Amino acid sequence: MSLPDLIIRPRRLRSTPVIRRMVRETTLSPSDFIYPLFVDETIDAPVAVGSMPGVSRIPVSMVGDAVREVEALGIPGVILFGIPATKDAIGSSGWDANGIVQQAIRAAKAACPDMCVIADTCCCEYTDHGHCGVLHGQDVDNDATLANLQKEAVSYAEAGIDIIAPSGMMDGMIAAIRQALDEAGFTNVPIMSYAVKYASGYFGPFRDAADSTPAFGDRATYQMDPGNRREAIKEALLDAEEGADFLMVKPALAYMDIIREVKDATLLPMAVYNVSGEYAMVKAAAEKGWIDEKRVVLETMLSFKRAGADLILSYHALDVARWLNDS
Ligand code: PBG
Ligand code: ZN
Repeated sequence: MSLPDLIIRPRRLRSTPVIRRMVRETTLSPSDFIYPLFVDETIDAPVAVGSMPGVSRIPVSMVGDAVREVEALGIPGVILFGIPATKDAIGSSGWDANGIVQQAIRAAKAACPDMCVIADTCCCEYTDHGHCGVLHGQDVDNDATLANLQKEAVSYAEAGIDIIAPSGMMDGMIAAIRQALDEAGFTNVPIMSYAVKYASGYFGPFRDAADSTPAFGDRATYQMDPGNRREAIKEALLDAEEGADFLMVKPALAYMDIIREVKDATLLPMAVYNVSGEYAMVKAAAEKGWIDEKRVVLETMLSFKRAGADLILSYHALDVARWLNDS
């Protein structure tokens, strides 16, 4: 038997490290990342998050050092989540001028004026029932919640935030926040919309970290159904029309098809959120010695970019930046 006469041999372009480097289509850099920080008003020292090895809640007094560490690694942004000392039915500590996120914004900007400080803008960390807005019966009242998101966003802007990131999946949240920021004179504060956010089991460890598990029910009346693809494009286009400056898809790993489709259907920079449950799975398998953590994490991050991500929010960001800086 004779073999075919192969003219085209793809392996030629894989034959040496330098050729592989020359033809690599996607690369990673520390500047692709945004690092989440959990700032807790009720503690004086870091408290480890059990389900997220390597992640802690920190007090405001440590925000400056945390942000300096992020900056030194070449990561351009942090996203802040607050755990307030007091919660109520409407989440009013979210728009307290001296609330936990407002304090953290001031501390972060004082330590690192050039760091891009982003605030997750939602109500679930501040409501005693853990839902992402004001309740009407057993469900979240969309328009009453919009009014509170406006107050929260303006309050963060007054504290010096660089980007507002609404994550509650309320209808019209981008239009409402844009209008409030503009009326308050913050026309240059961009909005990064959690535009496509699915009702996901992958948020479990985060809700431990942020103490924001709903007291009853789930988030299925506002977050998206995991089966839906066309609706993701609808949500993304709607938020772009309402004035979003960045779009986000969340979670990331199980939604790579959505990342690609939203990227192709829109023109805004796109972030993806490599969420807490995705992080926890990798950490657990690595601790057992079942996977090579560095290899798997770098491959996953590269794949987010290949799928269309411009920015990656990830709890792995510090490790990734260290690995990239060392290589
Ligand atoms: C707040 C919010 C959540 C996350 C980011 N912002 C939780 C939720 O919607 O229940 C999840 C982040 C993660 O899992 O890492 N709405
Ligand atoms: Zn929320």
